Amino acid sequence: MPLAAPDREIRDRALALQKTLVDWRRRLHMNPELSFEERETTAFLEETLRGWGLEPVRRTPTGLWADLEGGGGSGPTVAVRADIDALPIHEANAFEFRSRRDGVMHACGHDGHTAILLGVTRTLLDLRDRLPGRVRLVFQPAEELLPGGARPMIEAGVLDGVDRIIGLHLWSLLPTGRAGIAPGPLMANADAFEIRVRGRGGHGAQPHLAADALAAAAQVVVSLQQVVSRMVDPMRAAVVTVGVFRAGSAFNVIAPEALLQGTVRTFDADVRARVREALSRVAGDVAHAFGCEAETDYREGYPALVNERGTVEVFRAAVAAQMGEAALVEPEPFMGGEDFAYYLLERPGAFLFLGARNPEVGAEYPHHHPNFTIDEAALPWGVAVLAATAWRLLEAPLAREG
Ligand code: NI
Repeated sequence: MPLAAPDREIRDRALALQKTLVDWRRRLHMNPELSFEERETTAFLEETLRGWGLEPVRRTPTGLWADLEGGGGSGPTVAVRADIDALPIHEANAFEFRSRRDGVMHACGHDGHTAILLGVTRTLLDLRDRLPGRVRLVFQPAEELLPGGARPMIEAGVLDGVDRIIGLHLWSLLPTGRAGIAPGPLMANADAFEIRVRGRGGHGAQPHLAADALAAAAQVVVSLQQVVSRMVDPMRAAVVTVGVFRAGSAFNVIAPEALLQGTVRTFDADVRARVREALSRVAGDVAHAFGCEAETDYREGYPALVNERGTVEVFRAAVAAQMGEAALVEPEPFMGGEDFAYYLLERPGAFLFLGARNPEVGAEYPHHHPNFTIDEAALPWGVAVLAATAWRLLEAPLAREG
């Protein structure tokens, strides 16, 4: 029998890293980079990992992975993934380590994920002699921008030789000290659409000689609110959000064209197909009623993220050992998209929500808000739970379950 995971040593090391984790996180927070543009971040990671004697593998323009070979047996390979990109949001926080780049911000916590994975690396390196297998540390670019960075990493071979994969998201809906994980769907199919409404421009004083694309598009937005409320089974979840409405160029000119952009979130393939069909039908027919035409372009985004039961059980055991039994909560599935889902289509694994909400330190805004921040006290918990989960998966390989 292999030795049980050295929970105590993992926790002590993770907690001792607190200040270093905060330094890494703040450094990343001050220097955010957009999806697929994470050059400085990647360089920093490469340098840090090399400094620790690891050999980073770079096969995509940004992002990298590195293998940590344990000396404690020839167990399987477990990948641990962090996403490293920021968002095109102008930070509204006033703290000293706020973004130094106008219009770019770590507003989802990926700075924390990156710091946590460095902490996992450092922790497992310290315990390397006993580590019963190989851990692949995956720093993935571009989670925030379709088609996402996971697929190019997979195409580049990040999962070659990997038996299982785990990851987490710092979570503003859960208080620090809590962790949520469950088998089955955790995050949604996240699709994007664009609707172009075309009419006929004209003088603002002569509406009868024009076809007002702006007014028609406004009706399209209103009508789309009925897709979910009137066309989807009320027991099944769906969201349709229009996030962009662009039309017009002058106050006295009838807009010849309007552009709508939005997103559709669902968990089931049939609900997804139904909403997709309804969207273009409603847009087309409503625009037509006002003498305009609508063209709908629908792009399927990240698939739903579905956790595998076996890995979830291991995650739960690690959370209980590291944070205490009371830390575990049943997470509400979230309608956000997450490209970690692509790894789970290829390998068994699971994804955890780690509580990072704490109003006392200003960590009370939703993800993607200009005032978003995380409670940095959550960082060591992330390190401890990921390291302890990876260790358990190495010492007691699982058969794949549903
Ligand atoms: Ni995120």
